[in-house]
Amino acid sequence: MTLQSLWEARHPHSPVPPAELSGSWDVVVVGGGITGLTTALLLARAGKSVAVLEARHVGAGTTGRSTAKVSALQGTQLTSISRRHPDRVVEQYVRANLEGGAWLARFCDEHGVDRQVRAAYTFGFGSRGAAAARRESRIALRAGLPVTWVDEPDLPFETSGAVRLDEQFQVDPLELVEALAGQARAHGVTIVEGVRVRRVNGSDPVRLVTDVGAATAHTVVVATNTPILDRGAFFARVSPARSYSVAFRTTGPAVDGMYLSADSPSRSLRDAPADDGSLLLVGGAGHTTGRTGSPAARLDELRAWTAEHFPNAVESHAWSAQDYVPHHALPYAGPLLPGHDEILVAGGFSKWGFTNGVAAALALSGRILGGHLEWADAFRTWGTHELRGGIDSARMNAEVGFEMTRSWLRPLARPGLGAAPAEGEGEVRFDHLGAPTAISRTGGVERRVSAVCSHLGGVVRWNDAERSWDCPLHGSRFGADGEVLDGPATCGLGTG
Ligand SMILES: Cc1cc2nc3c(=O)[nH]c(=O)nc-3n(C[C@H](O)[C@H](O)[C@H](O)COP(=O)(O)OP(=O)(O)OC[C@H]3O[C@@H](n4cnc5c(N)ncnc54)[C@H](O)[C@@H]3O)c2cc1C
Ligand code: FES
Repeated sequence: MTLQSLWEARHPHSPVPPAELSGSWDVVVVGGGITGLTTALLLARAGKSVAVLEARHVGAGTTGRSTAKVSALQGTQLTSISRRHPDRVVEQYVRANLEGGAWLARFCDEHGVDRQVRAAYTFGFGSRGAAAARRESRIALRAGLPVTWVDEPDLPFETSGAVRLDEQFQVDPLELVEALAGQARAHGVTIVEGVRVRRVNGSDPVRLVTDVGAATAHTVVVATNTPILDRGAFFARVSPARSYSVAFRTTGPAVDGMYLSADSPSRSLRDAPADDGSLLLVGGAGHTTGRTGSPAARLDELRAWTAEHFPNAVESHAWSAQDYVPHHALPYAGPLLPGHDEILVAGGFSKWGFTNGVAAALALSGRILGGHLEWADAFRTWGTHELRGGIDSARMNAEVGFEMTRSWLRPLARPGLGAAPAEGEGEVRFDHLGAPTAISRTGGVERRVSAVCSHLGGVVRWNDAERSWDCPLHGSRFGADGEVLDGPATCGLGTG
């Protein structure tokens, strides 16, 4: 059984009936998260015929497992950008996020989506954190954000101060997704769930091949968080980052704002209104997907930390999710290949997709409709930005190469197909033909599938929290039965 987010528990989705696909649209959007649904809605409002093709159900990706803070103060994100790019780009990024946040606030208010206005804080645990938060504060002020400094934020543990931005907000991400999908449908968007796009070829029209049929479009927007198409090599420009969230019932108010630490341990805090008071959401303990021994231990780390600082907190939900962190620190929204506007991509939101995903949607829909937003230059997919992440890019790709070798060597420690693993466990072993086989036992059922990732051949690793097979190279994830959970893979693990 995979973990369920607080939001998924509050908004259970109906089973998706078997889908069929054929048809032709002005624009087909692949992916029904915040980015894809917002893009579809904007284009439909402008008179385009639009379809959204979603592999599982709307909100099933990172959006439905997010902590859904909508803020232009984003930990130390401006510092990361400022290290690599000139002030002009930092300002464009801030403007994009302010526009994304403002659009979302208007949408929530017009369509009855509850949003709670909160101050956002980046706080320090110690002197390094204070220095990082002060640096972020200086850059934010330079970029036009009216931040202030707070010596003692209202938290039940010692901090070294915090930078604060008022009038930000938080939502229930699946309440938002339902409203976006409802509005998109009301404007004529066809949303087809349970359709996995496997290939996108040609131009004018572009042809999308899925597991249940094909479709054509003048323009395709790939809003799958990490692009499912290898052309453009976006999978090599980002690092897949998994992190963990736990919701707790508390006696008394949880926290009065949306907090993120600037130093270790990385901790995110917010409240979530509940019928009988409010819940405390604690996030953190992140790592690169597929590169930690025990994801379950990461959840335990969050539980232990919360027990120490919020002793009355009682756990209600625990879950994990992943986002993609680009090596040059800027999101992207633009053509998959330079000079070819028939396939556009968006992603690389570094765990800030509620403002960035909407900004990407505004940028892409503007582009399709023939306009240009000045701040959208910060989101360019091709240009000099890429060069500014050169050293980080080289390091990330060297790590991927190392992981490729390591992932193939790891099963050598467990030769032969011996006894099946215990309940909830999984192991990769070489079979008698020398092929790595992923063997797991969940719900009393033993399953054997190929351990070779269908994307580019990494060997997957068992995730003992989500009971999934995770690839340490570019973050594809698969269920115990081999079904794709997260991209860039578009096909499941083969039969073992
Ligand atoms: C733990 C965590 C906490 C976060 N907290 C915040 C926060 O507080 N504030 C904030 O702004 N951001 C936050 N983020 C980031 C934010 O949630 C994401 O950036 C954002 O949700 C990404 O939205 P998306 O629509 O681009 O992608 P997704 O929501 O992942 O949607 C992509 C969709 O594409 C579908 N798909 C994939 N492959 C295919 C295919 N081949 N065919 C058809 N469909 C396909 C998937 O099923 C999925 O539904 C957080 C991220 C994490 C991991
Ligand atoms: S995700 Fe690329 S090889 Fe597995």
